[in-house]
Amino acid sequence: MAANSTKILVTGGAGYIGSHCAKALATAGYEPITFDNLSTGHRDFVRWGPLIEGDVRDFSALASAFKKYKPVAVMHFASLISVGESVARPELYHDVNVTGTLVLLNAMREAKVEPIVFSSSAAVYGEPQVSPIPEDTPFSPSSPYGVTKAICEQMMDHFGSAHGTRSVRLRYFNAAGADPGGEIGEHHEPETHLIPLALDVALGRTDVLQVYGNDYPTPDGTAVRDYIHVVDLAEAHVGSLKFLLDGGETLFLNLGTGVGASVIEVIETVEKVTGKTIKQVRKPRRLGDAPVLVADSGRAHDVLSWRATRFGLETIVTDSLRWSLSRFS
Ligand SMILES: NC(=O)c1ccc[n+]([C@@H]2O[C@H](COP(=O)([O-])OP(=O)(O)OC[C@H]3O[C@@H](n4cnc5c(N)ncnc54)[C@H](O)[C@@H]3O)[C@@H](O)[C@H]2O)c1
Repeated sequence: MAANSTKILVTGGAGYIGSHCAKALATAGYEPITFDNLSTGHRDFVRWGPLIEGDVRDFSALASAFKKYKPVAVMHFASLISVGESVARPELYHDVNVTGTLVLLNAMREAKVEPIVFSSSAAVYGEPQVSPIPEDTPFSPSSPYGVTKAICEQMMDHFGSAHGTRSVRLRYFNAAGADPGGEIGEHHEPETHLIPLALDVALGRTDVLQVYGNDYPTPDGTAVRDYIHVVDLAEAHVGSLKFLLDGGETLFLNLGTGVGASVIEVIETVEKVTGKTIKQVRKPRRLGDAPVLVADSGRAHDVLSWRATRFGLETIVTDSLRWSLSRFS
């Protein structure tokens, strides 16, 4: 890494998506400065630049980080991410996700750093009737988690109008897969995402996969989601950063493939890739789980010339399996 490479502050860079973005930043010639309290992240995921252990709600820790490293922009991944936990503990989600973002934006103002790439979510749309979902679909989040993301996006608009903060808000659909080099991958505790949970059953680490809802208005009755490879997500972040550093104005973009897969299709792909049968138990639908969430990512293509290229569930599951075997065996 060049000693004078352009520094980017990456909050949450020790987590799943943040670490893949840190790797993509380093590959593109930037130096990621990870700012993370390691509450759900992993020290050994921080490999492409320094780690500052700190909390995004701590203004003075952020101010010192800006002073010491002088980053020119921020990528903000730090967040709590579980929809179910947000229902049980909304105060925690508002504190970390909303207060954390407010404190960060204030620290950026003080340091005179204004471009920010923000991890938003398809959860801001709730249960829309339209598919694929374009960005002008009204916000109607159906969980406290989704509400916190919607508030953060609105906060960035307000900071934009009042203080000139420019943001690219990336509304991810279902992040999945892992670094094809096997260095980093998905490791949430507890895990709530379908592919790692299905792999755990296939690899004999757990007994049974819970499938929530089999009476959705979808071809096989299970929920349909748009699974996007985490490396494609990472590349969209680097493109968004360049867009802002070149003077681009505030944007909000969906990131997905435009193709949905049902829970059953995901399970069948994991079975095919691993050669194992996955024992399942059917459970009722969970509150707030939309039947179908598929992205219209045309705007990301038009503005950033970005498109998901690591297509297909088999590619995603194969990369996840490689990572899972190396990390947990
Ligand atoms: N995983 C998905 O499918 C998905 C989908 C849509 C949006 N997102 C968003 O992407 C971002 C990253 O998600 P992820 O799956 O990598 O989650 P993750 O839990 O792996 O990463 C989050 C990181 O933030 C850190 N963090 C949490 N609270 C913090 C705090 N108060 N101060 C400093 N650091 C803190 C954690 O230690 C962790 O390293 C989140 O903002 C999430 O809402 C994820």
